[in-house]
Amino acid sequence: MKDNNIFKQNSFVSIDLRSNRLKQKPKLIWFTGLSGSGKTTLSIHLEKLLFEKGFSTYVLDGDNVRLGLCNDLGFSVEDRYENIRRISEVSKLLLDAGIIVLSSFISPLKSHREHVRKTVGAENYIEIFVSTPLDVCEERDTKGLYKKARKGYIKNFTGISSDFEYPKNPKIKIDTTDLTIKKSVGIIFKEIKKHIYV
Ligand code: ADX
Repeated sequence: MKDNNIFKQNSFVSIDLRSNRLKQKPKLIWFTGLSGSGKTTLSIHLEKLLFEKGFSTYVLDGDNVRLGLCNDLGFSVEDRYENIRRISEVSKLLLDAGIIVLSSFISPLKSHREHVRKTVGAENYIEIFVSTPLDVCEERDTKGLYKKARKGYIKNFTGISSDFEYPKNPKIKIDTTDLTIKKSVGIIFKEIKKHIYV
């Protein structure tokens, strides 16, 4: 630990007190997968379901975060790491506040996802791999980015000119190719409900 004259300050309101007040266990639900795989769609629909059931939730999403907190970052490995590092710290703060956080980032590298897991604690980290294959994501091309990337207009585009390292042991693996949103969200909720009720 470098000596930077910084001291950790604790508050009187502990995470357990917050968790009891909110009647939930704060967890980070981390969606990883290619652009267009369905991460954002699943995270916002899952959040809606959780919120309607009375949970206090918050969604952090790649595109949104890159419009603000991370608008100084690009898509080199270094910038992606910094993006994920900041998100993991923000997620940790929200967990400390007792919130169930749904984070949706490509997070293509295993070491970066590992960093998130370590930052928030393995017991708080639920990884969901949205495993929709590249050809389906490219066919959907909801934002027109694959077309641009194929033409060489976007460099370091995940799946085309930049690596995606497949998660080996995600808590949940879900391929949205032939699943409705409702069905997918149902599958995820069935698994995560074991972890979020007090
Ligand atoms: S990450 O790799 O650092 O985790 P993040 O999830 O924040 O990526 O951002 C991904 C979003 O940025 C994509 O959904 C897409 O809309 C947009 N994007 C722009 N350029 C790229 C690129 N080179 N590679 C991947 N996504 C890109």
